[in-house]
Amino acid sequence: MKFFIDTANIDEIKEAHSMGMVDGVTTNPSLIAKEGRDFEEIIEEICEIVDGPISAEVVSTDTEGMLEEARKLSKIHENIVVKIPMLVNGLKATRKLSEEGIKTNVTLVFSPLQALMAAKAGATYVSPFIGRLDDISQEGLLLVEHIVEIYGNYAFDTEIIVASIRNPLHVLESALMGADIATIPFSVLNKLAAHPLTDKGLKAFLDDWNKAKGAQS
Ligand code: E4P
Repeated sequence: MKFFIDTANIDEIKEAHSMGMVDGVTTNPSLIAKEGRDFEEIIEEICEIVDGPISAEVVSTDTEGMLEEARKLSKIHENIVVKIPMLVNGLKATRKLSEEGIKTNVTLVFSPLQALMAAKAGATYVSPFIGRLDDISQEGLLLVEHIVEIYGNYAFDTEIIVASIRNPLHVLESALMGADIATIPFSVLNKLAAHPLTDKGLKAFLDDWNKAKGAQS
């Protein structure tokens, strides 16, 4: 399973990258706005750190506007993937961009049929938002299960990026289902590595070691 990091924060990206855990990066307009810096400047910086797909989102909602933004974004770096919202206009833009060889990530996907349409439009990636479904008492992971099954039934090349991840179980269950990618917030990435028995075991090892050293001196 590929791990993308879901942030526009350069320090978080550098730290996760140094852990060897970053195969790509996803951003969105809210994450970019949180940084209070120029959009293109942030994206350029991310491309210098991570050699993998970097998602940058359009803010237009009409097809022509999306296409114009997408073409501009794709010129920043060869690793840019243009995030397109799951709208009818977005599907039209996705189709055109796929013909032009520009990679797309159809975002804000909340149903299996939206994911099917994104794949038929030629999306490179599709992003089901599972945490936001859980927030309204719908099972986010069931959406991933359905998309994995549909894409498998018809051998679509579109890769599934499980998005809106809130906890380690979201990552575990997505991996068990065979989702291609999890885009993970930095805080959740750290939780994946942690286990109380690791900490307890290490403390016991070090205590024993230091006791033995003390006895020898
Ligand atoms: C994905 O590409 C989005 O940036 C992100 O996962 C949304 O997560 P949120 O629902 O926690 O905002």
